[in-house]
Amino acid sequence: MPFDLLKSMDSNLNKEFDYFKALNLSIDVTRGKPHSDQLDLSQSLLDAPLKSWIVAGSDIRNYGDPLGIMEARKLGAEILDGKVETTLAGEQSSLLLIYQIITALYLHGMDTPWRSLDKPKIICPVPGFDRHFRIFEDFGIEMLNLPLEGDGPDIDAYKELLNNHSNIVGIIAVPKHSNPSGDIYSIEKIQNIFEFGLAYSADFCFLFDHAYIVHDLEENMPTHPILNIAKESGALETTAVMTSFSKITFGGAGLSFFSAGKRLFNLMVKQRAAMIICPDKINQQRHLQFLSNTNQIKEHMRLHAAILKPKFLLVQEKLSVIPSEMGSFKIPKGGYFVSFNTKLPIATRVVEIANSLGVKFTPAGATFPYGKDPGNSNIRIAPSFLNIQDLSVAMDVFLLSLKLAHQEVN
Ligand SMILES: Cc1ncc(COP(=O)(O)O)c(C=O)c1O
Repeated sequence: MPFDLLKSMDSNLNKEFDYFKALNLSIDVTRGKPHSDQLDLSQSLLDAPLKSWIVAGSDIRNYGDPLGIMEARKLGAEILDGKVETTLAGEQSSLLLIYQIITALYLHGMDTPWRSLDKPKIICPVPGFDRHFRIFEDFGIEMLNLPLEGDGPDIDAYKELLNNHSNIVGIIAVPKHSNPSGDIYSIEKIQNIFEFGLAYSADFCFLFDHAYIVHDLEENMPTHPILNIAKESGALETTAVMTSFSKITFGGAGLSFFSAGKRLFNLMVKQRAAMIICPDKINQQRHLQFLSNTNQIKEHMRLHAAILKPKFLLVQEKLSVIPSEMGSFKIPKGGYFVSFNTKLPIATRVVEIANSLGVKFTPAGATFPYGKDPGNSNIRIAPSFLNIQDLSVAMDVFLLSLKLAHQEVN
Protein backbone atom coordinates (compact mmCIF):
# COMPACT_ATOMS: atom_id res chain seq x y z
CA MET A 1 0.00 0.00 0.00
CA PRO A 2 1.74 3.20 -1.16
CA PHE A 3 0.45 5.21 1.77
CA ASP A 4 2.89 3.41 4.05
CA LEU A 5 5.18 6.09 2.78
CA LEU A 6 3.16 8.58 4.75
CA LYS A 7 4.65 7.24 7.96
CA SER A 8 7.95 8.78 7.09
CA MET A 9 6.43 12.03 5.97
CA ASP A 10 6.01 15.42 7.46
CA SER A 11 3.72 14.96 10.43
CA ASN A 12 1.52 17.93 9.53
CA LEU A 13 0.82 16.50 6.11
CA ASN A 14 0.17 13.19 7.75
CA LYS A 15 -2.35 14.77 10.10
CA GLU A 16 -3.97 16.61 7.23
CA PHE A 17 -4.26 13.33 5.34
CA ASP A 18 -5.95 11.67 8.33
CA TYR A 19 -8.28 14.64 8.70
CA PHE A 20 -9.52 14.44 5.11
CA LYS A 21 -9.65 10.65 5.22
CA ALA A 22 -11.97 10.82 8.22
CA LEU A 23 -14.36 13.07 6.29
CA ASN A 24 -15.25 10.18 3.94
CA LEU A 25 -15.40 12.57 1.03
CA SER A 26 -17.02 11.80 -2.30
CA ILE A 27 -16.36 14.72 -4.63
CA ASP A 28 -16.05 14.46 -8.41
CA VAL A 29 -13.92 17.14 -10.06
CA THR A 30 -13.79 15.34 -13.40
CA ARG A 31 -16.97 16.65 -14.97
CA GLY A 32 -16.85 19.74 -17.17
CA LYS A 33 -20.61 20.07 -16.90
CA PRO A 34 -22.76 23.10 -16.16
CA HIS A 35 -24.04 23.31 -12.59
CA SER A 36 -27.82 23.10 -12.14
CA ASP A 37 -27.81 26.84 -11.35
CA GLN A 38 -26.59 27.36 -14.91
CA LEU A 39 -29.20 25.01 -16.34
CA ASP A 40 -31.85 27.02 -14.50
CA LEU A 41 -30.90 30.04 -16.63
CA SER A 42 -32.55 28.31 -19.60
CA GLN A 43 -35.58 26.95 -17.81
CA SER A 44 -38.01 29.05 -19.82
CA LEU A 45 -36.85 27.19 -22.91
CA LEU A 46 -38.70 24.22 -21.47
CA ASP A 47 -41.58 26.07 -19.93
CA ALA A 48 -42.60 28.29 -22.85
CA PRO A 49 -44.89 26.65 -25.39
CA LEU A 50 -43.88 26.73 -29.04
CA LYS A 51 -45.57 29.65 -30.74
CA SER A 52 -46.07 27.81 -34.01
CA TRP A 53 -45.30 24.54 -35.70
CA ILE A 54 -45.22 26.14 -39.10
CA VAL A 55 -41.88 27.76 -39.77
CA ALA A 56 -41.15 29.40 -43.14
CA GLY A 57 -44.04 27.48 -44.62
CA SER A 58 -43.03 24.02 -43.45
CA ASP A 59 -44.29 21.92 -40.57
CA ILE A 60 -41.37 21.39 -38.20
CA ARG A 61 -43.10 18.38 -36.65
CA ASN A 62 -42.36 16.47 -39.82
CA TYR A 63 -39.32 15.35 -41.83
CA GLY A 64 -37.66 17.96 -44.02
CA ASP A 65 -34.94 20.64 -43.93
CA PRO A 66 -31.97 18.27 -43.55
CA LEU A 67 -29.67 21.25 -43.00
CA GLY A 68 -31.88 22.60 -40.22
CA ILE A 69 -34.33 25.49 -39.95
CA MET A 70 -33.10 28.47 -41.95
CA GLU A 71 -33.21 30.80 -38.93
CA ALA A 72 -31.11 28.33 -36.96
CA ARG A 73 -28.59 28.11 -39.80
CA LYS A 74 -28.44 31.92 -39.89
CA LEU A 75 -27.77 31.99 -36.16
CA GLY A 76 -25.04 29.35 -36.55
CA ALA A 77 -23.46 31.33 -39.38
CA GLU A 78 -23.55 34.47 -37.26
CA ILE A 79 -21.89 32.74 -34.30
CA LEU A 80 -19.23 31.02 -36.40
CA ASP A 81 -18.61 33.87 -38.85
CA GLY A 82 -19.58 31.62 -41.72
CA LYS A 83 -21.87 31.86 -44.70
CA VAL A 84 -25.45 30.67 -44.24
CA GLU A 85 -25.23 28.58 -47.42
CA THR A 86 -22.38 26.55 -45.96
CA THR A 87 -23.64 26.36 -42.38
CA LEU A 88 -25.92 23.65 -41.06
CA ALA A 89 -27.78 23.35 -37.78
CA GLY A 90 -27.52 19.78 -36.59
CA GLU A 91 -28.65 17.78 -33.62
CA GLN A 92 -27.71 18.43 -30.01
CA SER A 93 -24.02 17.50 -30.17
CA SER A 94 -21.04 19.11 -31.86
CA LEU A 95 -19.01 16.01 -31.04
CA LEU A 96 -21.38 14.09 -33.29
CA LEU A 97 -20.75 16.60 -36.10
CA ILE A 98 -17.02 16.16 -35.59
CA TYR A 99 -17.43 12.39 -35.75
CA GLN A 100 -19.52 12.75 -38.91
CA ILE A 101 -17.02 14.93 -40.77
CA ILE A 102 -14.16 12.62 -39.80
CA THR A 103 -16.21 9.64 -40.99
CA ALA A 104 -16.83 11.44 -44.29
CA LEU A 105 -13.15 12.24 -44.71
CA TYR A 106 -12.20 8.68 -43.81
CA LEU A 107 -14.69 7.05 -46.16
CA HIS A 108 -14.74 9.51 -49.05
CA GLY A 109 -12.13 12.24 -48.46
CA MET A 110 -11.85 15.51 -50.30
CA ASP A 111 -10.00 13.80 -53.14
CA THR A 112 -8.38 10.86 -51.41
CA PRO A 113 -10.25 8.97 -48.66
CA TRP A 114 -8.17 8.86 -45.48
CA ARG A 115 -8.76 5.10 -45.31
CA SER A 116 -6.79 4.60 -48.52
CA LEU A 117 -3.67 6.28 -47.11
CA ASP A 118 -0.81 4.36 -45.61
CA LYS A 119 -0.79 5.19 -41.86
CA PRO A 120 -2.74 8.47 -41.91
CA LYS A 121 -1.90 10.87 -39.09
CA ILE A 122 -3.58 13.86 -37.47
CA ILE A 123 -2.01 16.65 -35.47
CA CYS A 124 -3.48 17.13 -31.98
CA PRO A 125 -2.52 20.17 -29.91
CA VAL A 126 -1.90 19.03 -26.33
CA PRO A 127 -3.13 18.98 -23.68
CA GLY A 128 -6.44 18.39 -25.39
CA PHE A 129 -9.91 16.87 -25.32
CA ASP A 130 -9.95 13.12 -24.69
CA ARG A 131 -13.10 12.59 -26.75
CA HIS A 132 -11.35 13.90 -29.86
CA PHE A 133 -8.61 11.37 -29.26
CA ARG A 134 -11.14 8.56 -28.93
CA ILE A 135 -12.52 9.33 -32.40
CA PHE A 136 -9.11 9.05 -34.04
CA GLU A 137 -8.42 5.84 -32.15
CA ASP A 138 -11.67 4.45 -33.58
CA PHE A 139 -10.42 5.13 -37.10
CA GLY A 140 -6.86 4.00 -36.48
CA ILE A 141 -5.53 7.46 -37.34
CA GLU A 142 -2.25 8.08 -35.58
CA MET A 143 -2.21 11.17 -33.39
CA LEU A 144 0.81 13.44 -33.25
CA ASN A 145 1.22 15.64 -30.17
CA LEU A 146 1.70 19.35 -30.74
CA PRO A 147 2.43 21.36 -27.57
CA LEU A 148 0.28 24.40 -26.78
CA GLU A 149 2.00 27.56 -25.57
CA GLY A 150 -0.81 29.69 -24.13
CA ASP A 151 -1.66 31.49 -27.37
CA GLY A 152 -1.97 28.38 -29.50
CA PRO A 153 0.41 25.68 -30.68
CA ASP A 154 4.19 25.88 -30.85
CA ILE A 155 4.53 26.74 -34.54
CA ASP A 156 8.12 25.52 -34.79
CA ALA A 157 7.00 22.14 -33.45
CA TYR A 158 4.12 22.22 -35.97
CA LYS A 159 6.56 22.79 -38.83
CA GLU A 160 8.77 20.02 -37.50
CA LEU A 161 5.89 17.55 -37.46
CA LEU A 162 4.99 18.52 -41.01
CA ASN A 163 8.61 18.13 -42.10
CA ASN A 164 9.08 14.75 -40.45
CA HIS A 165 5.87 12.87 -41.21
CA SER A 166 4.12 11.70 -44.32
CA ASN A 167 0.35 11.37 -44.74
CA ILE A 168 -0.68 13.94 -42.17
CA VAL A 169 -4.32 14.57 -43.01
CA GLY A 170 -4.91 17.63 -40.87
CA ILE A 171 -5.21 19.16 -37.44
CA ILE A 172 -8.01 19.30 -34.86
CA ALA A 173 -7.96 22.35 -32.62
CA VAL A 174 -10.01 24.09 -29.93
CA PRO A 175 -9.07 27.67 -30.77
CA LYS A 176 -10.62 29.52 -27.83
CA HIS A 177 -10.51 28.59 -24.15
CA SER A 178 -8.99 25.30 -25.27
CA ASN A 179 -9.97 22.26 -23.21
CA PRO A 180 -8.21 22.07 -20.78
CA SER A 181 -5.37 24.61 -21.15
CA GLY A 182 -7.56 27.65 -21.80
CA ASP A 183 -5.35 28.67 -24.75
CA ILE A 184 -6.78 31.38 -26.95
CA TYR A 185 -5.12 31.02 -30.32
CA SER A 186 -3.64 34.27 -31.63
CA ILE A 187 -4.53 35.41 -35.15
CA GLU A 188 -0.89 34.94 -36.16
CA LYS A 189 -0.90 31.33 -35.01
CA ILE A 190 -4.18 30.61 -36.75
CA GLN A 191 -2.66 32.08 -39.93
CA ASN A 192 0.47 29.95 -39.44
CA ILE A 193 -1.63 26.83 -38.97
CA PHE A 194 -3.31 27.48 -42.32
CA GLU A 195 -0.16 28.57 -44.15
CA PHE A 196 2.05 25.62 -43.23
CA GLY A 197 -0.74 23.06 -43.35
CA LEU A 198 -1.72 24.15 -46.82
CA ALA A 199 1.90 24.16 -47.98
CA TYR A 200 2.10 20.55 -46.78
CA SER A 201 -0.94 19.42 -48.77
CA ALA A 202 -3.82 21.05 -50.63
CA ASP A 203 -6.12 18.49 -48.93
CA PHE A 204 -4.89 19.28 -45.40
CA CYS A 205 -8.00 19.57 -43.18
CA PHE A 206 -8.37 22.22 -40.51
CA LEU A 207 -10.99 21.10 -38.00
CA PHE A 208 -11.82 23.71 -35.38
CA ASP A 209 -13.92 22.64 -32.43
CA HIS A 210 -15.22 25.99 -31.19
CA ALA A 211 -16.96 24.48 -28.15
CA TYR A 212 -16.18 27.56 -26.03
CA ILE A 213 -16.64 30.30 -28.61
CA VAL A 214 -18.92 32.47 -26.46
CA HIS A 215 -17.93 31.10 -23.07
CA ASP A 216 -15.96 34.06 -21.75
CA LEU A 217 -15.41 34.90 -18.11
CA GLU A 218 -14.35 38.42 -18.96
CA GLU A 219 -16.13 41.21 -20.78
CA ASN A 220 -15.46 42.21 -24.39
CA MET A 221 -13.24 39.34 -25.35
CA PRO A 222 -12.64 39.10 -29.09
CA THR A 223 -13.25 35.95 -31.11
CA HIS A 224 -11.08 35.57 -34.16
CA PRO A 225 -13.12 34.84 -37.29
CA ILE A 226 -11.62 31.47 -38.19
CA LEU A 227 -13.44 31.05 -41.47
CA ASN A 228 -12.48 34.53 -42.66
CA ILE A 229 -8.85 33.91 -41.77
CA ALA A 230 -9.12 30.58 -43.59
CA LYS A 231 -10.46 32.39 -46.64
CA GLU A 232 -7.68 34.98 -46.59
CA SER A 233 -5.15 32.15 -46.24
CA GLY A 234 -6.64 30.24 -49.16
CA ALA A 235 -7.63 27.37 -46.85
CA LEU A 236 -11.40 27.82 -46.65
CA GLU A 237 -12.28 24.78 -48.79
CA THR A 238 -10.67 22.42 -46.29
CA THR A 239 -11.69 24.20 -43.09
CA ALA A 240 -14.63 23.38 -40.82
CA VAL A 241 -15.76 24.93 -37.55
CA MET A 242 -18.17 23.29 -35.14
CA THR A 243 -19.89 24.46 -31.98
CA SER A 244 -22.92 23.75 -29.82
CA PHE A 245 -25.24 25.13 -27.18
CA SER A 246 -24.35 22.34 -24.71
CA LYS A 247 -22.88 24.91 -22.35
CA ILE A 248 -25.22 27.71 -23.34
CA THR A 249 -28.58 26.08 -22.65
CA PHE A 250 -28.60 22.38 -21.70
CA GLY A 251 -25.74 19.87 -21.68
CA GLY A 252 -26.37 17.44 -24.54
CA ALA A 253 -29.73 19.05 -25.34
CA GLY A 254 -28.84 22.27 -27.11
CA LEU A 255 -28.18 23.02 -30.77
CA SER A 256 -25.11 22.25 -32.81
CA PHE A 257 -23.64 23.98 -35.83
CA PHE A 258 -21.21 23.13 -38.59
CA SER A 259 -19.83 25.79 -40.90
CA ALA A 260 -17.20 25.18 -43.56
CA GLY A 261 -15.83 25.88 -46.97
CA LYS A 262 -18.01 24.59 -49.81
CA ARG A 263 -16.09 21.39 -50.54
CA LEU A 264 -16.00 20.22 -46.96
CA PHE A 265 -19.59 21.35 -46.43
CA ASN A 266 -20.84 19.33 -49.41
CA LEU A 267 -18.94 16.30 -48.19
CA MET A 268 -20.56 16.66 -44.76
CA VAL A 269 -24.04 17.05 -46.24
CA LYS A 270 -23.52 13.88 -48.29
CA GLN A 271 -22.32 11.96 -45.25
CA ARG A 272 -25.16 13.13 -43.05
CA ALA A 273 -27.73 12.24 -45.70
CA ALA A 274 -26.69 8.62 -45.20
CA MET A 275 -27.08 8.90 -41.44
CA ILE A 276 -30.07 11.05 -40.59
CA ILE A 277 -33.14 12.30 -42.44
CA CYS A 278 -33.29 15.62 -40.63
CA PRO A 279 -32.32 17.14 -37.28
CA ASP A 280 -34.75 17.82 -34.43
CA LYS A 281 -36.30 21.02 -35.76
CA ILE A 282 -38.65 21.30 -32.80
CA ASN A 283 -35.67 21.73 -30.48
CA GLN A 284 -34.17 24.17 -32.97
CA GLN A 285 -37.34 26.26 -32.97
CA ARG A 286 -37.57 26.22 -29.17
CA HIS A 287 -34.00 27.49 -29.02
CA LEU A 288 -34.70 30.21 -31.57
CA GLN A 289 -37.60 31.43 -29.47
CA PHE A 290 -35.28 31.58 -26.47
CA LEU A 291 -32.08 32.93 -28.05
CA SER A 292 -32.50 34.29 -31.54
CA ASN A 293 -29.37 36.40 -32.03
CA THR A 294 -25.81 36.79 -30.84
CA ASN A 295 -26.61 39.77 -28.61
CA GLN A 296 -29.08 37.68 -26.65
CA ILE A 297 -26.51 34.89 -26.45
CA LYS A 298 -23.89 37.32 -25.14
CA GLU A 299 -26.29 38.55 -22.47
CA HIS A 300 -27.14 34.97 -21.51
CA MET A 301 -23.46 34.03 -21.31
CA ARG A 302 -22.88 36.90 -18.86
CA LEU A 303 -25.27 35.12 -16.50
CA HIS A 304 -23.26 31.90 -16.89
CA ALA A 305 -20.04 33.82 -16.24
CA ALA A 306 -21.47 35.31 -13.04
CA ILE A 307 -22.02 31.76 -11.73
CA LEU A 308 -18.73 30.35 -13.01
CA LYS A 309 -16.35 33.17 -12.14
CA PRO A 310 -16.35 32.75 -8.32
CA LYS A 311 -15.46 29.08 -8.83
CA PHE A 312 -12.54 29.88 -11.11
CA LEU A 313 -11.38 32.58 -8.70
CA LEU A 314 -11.49 30.09 -5.85
CA VAL A 315 -9.37 27.61 -7.82
CA GLN A 316 -6.95 30.41 -8.63
CA GLU A 317 -6.73 31.45 -4.97
CA LYS A 318 -6.07 27.86 -3.85
CA LEU A 319 -3.48 27.12 -6.54
CA SER A 320 -1.66 30.42 -6.13
CA VAL A 321 -0.03 29.26 -2.87
CA ILE A 322 1.74 26.41 -4.67
CA PRO A 323 5.45 27.18 -5.04
CA SER A 324 6.63 27.29 -8.65
CA GLU A 325 9.04 24.39 -8.06
CA MET A 326 5.99 22.18 -7.52
CA GLY A 327 4.00 23.18 -10.56
CA SER A 328 2.26 25.88 -12.53
CA PHE A 329 -1.13 26.82 -13.84
CA LYS A 330 -2.82 29.46 -15.89
CA ILE A 331 -6.24 30.73 -15.00
CA PRO A 332 -8.26 30.74 -18.19
CA LYS A 333 -10.34 33.65 -19.38
CA GLY A 334 -13.22 31.36 -20.21
CA GLY A 335 -14.20 27.79 -20.96
CA TYR A 336 -14.65 25.09 -18.36
CA PHE A 337 -11.25 23.97 -17.12
CA VAL A 338 -8.12 24.84 -15.26
CA SER A 339 -5.01 23.01 -16.32
CA PHE A 340 -2.31 22.35 -13.74
CA ASN A 341 1.16 21.09 -14.62
CA THR A 342 3.27 19.44 -11.97
CA LYS A 343 6.97 20.23 -12.20
CA LEU A 344 7.97 16.63 -11.50
CA PRO A 345 6.44 13.68 -13.39
CA ILE A 346 3.97 12.93 -10.62
CA ALA A 347 0.51 13.76 -12.02
CA THR A 348 -0.62 10.12 -11.81
CA ARG A 349 0.40 9.98 -8.18
CA VAL A 350 -1.32 13.26 -7.27
CA VAL A 351 -4.59 12.03 -8.78
CA GLU A 352 -4.14 8.68 -7.03
CA ILE A 353 -3.67 10.25 -3.60
CA ALA A 354 -6.64 12.60 -4.08
CA ASN A 355 -8.71 9.62 -5.17
CA SER A 356 -7.80 7.75 -2.01
CA LEU A 357 -9.22 10.71 -0.09
CA GLY A 358 -12.50 10.55 -2.00
CA VAL A 359 -11.79 13.37 -4.46
CA LYS A 360 -11.83 12.27 -8.05
CA PHE A 361 -9.78 14.16 -10.63
CA THR A 362 -9.64 13.31 -14.34
CA PRO A 363 -7.10 10.49 -14.70
CA ALA A 364 -3.66 11.88 -15.44
CA GLY A 365 -2.83 11.28 -19.08
CA ALA A 366 -6.43 11.67 -20.28
CA THR A 367 -5.59 15.03 -21.79
CA PHE A 368 -3.12 13.41 -24.19
CA PRO A 369 -3.62 11.02 -27.13
CA TYR A 370 -3.58 7.35 -26.08
CA GLY A 371 -3.83 8.50 -22.43
CA LYS A 372 -0.08 9.06 -22.40
CA ASP A 373 1.22 12.33 -21.07
CA PRO A 374 4.95 12.16 -21.84
CA GLY A 375 5.71 14.44 -18.89
CA ASN A 376 3.18 12.80 -16.53
CA SER A 377 2.45 16.35 -15.55
CA ASN A 378 -0.94 17.63 -16.69
CA ILE A 379 -3.99 17.54 -14.42
CA ARG A 380 -7.37 18.83 -15.55
CA ILE A 381 -9.51 20.58 -12.95
CA ALA A 382 -13.20 21.08 -13.73
CA PRO A 383 -14.72 23.60 -11.28
CA SER A 384 -18.14 24.18 -12.86
CA PHE A 385 -20.23 21.27 -11.64
CA LEU A 386 -19.39 21.56 -7.93
CA ASN A 387 -20.83 23.94 -5.40
CA ILE A 388 -18.32 26.34 -3.91
CA GLN A 389 -18.00 24.45 -0.60
CA ASP A 390 -17.17 21.11 -2.26
CA LEU A 391 -14.83 22.83 -4.68
CA SER A 392 -12.98 24.44 -1.80
CA VAL A 393 -12.51 21.08 -0.03
CA ALA A 394 -11.52 19.42 -3.33
CA MET A 395 -8.84 22.02 -3.93
CA ASP A 396 -7.49 21.60 -0.40
CA VAL A 397 -7.24 17.88 -1.06
CA PHE A 398 -5.53 18.63 -4.38
CA LEU A 399 -2.91 20.75 -2.65
CA LEU A 400 -2.31 18.13 0.00
CA SER A 401 -2.04 15.38 -2.63
CA LEU A 402 0.43 17.45 -4.59
CA LYS A 403 2.58 18.06 -1.52
CA LEU A 404 2.48 14.39 -0.56
CA ALA A 405 3.35 13.19 -4.04
CA HIS A 406 6.15 15.69 -4.16
CA GLN A 407 7.49 14.60 -0.83
CA GLU A 408 7.48 10.95 -1.89
CA VAL A 409 9.96 11.57 -4.68
CA ASN A 410 12.20 13.97 -2.76
C1 LIG B 1 -13.74 20.79 -26.68
C2 LIG B 1 -15.09 20.17 -26.58
N1 LIG B 1 -15.74 19.83 -27.69
C3 LIG B 1 -16.95 19.25 -27.66
C4 LIG B 1 -17.57 19.00 -26.46
C5 LIG B 1 -18.90 18.32 -26.46
O1 LIG B 1 -19.85 19.16 -27.02
P1 LIG B 1 -21.27 18.61 -27.43
O2 LIG B 1 -22.07 18.45 -26.19
O3 LIG B 1 -21.79 19.67 -28.32
O4 LIG B 1 -21.08 17.32 -28.18
C6 LIG B 1 -16.93 19.34 -25.26
C7 LIG B 1 -17.57 19.05 -23.97
O5 LIG B 1 -16.96 19.06 -22.94
C8 LIG B 1 -15.66 19.93 -25.33
O6 LIG B 1 -14.99 20.27 -24.22
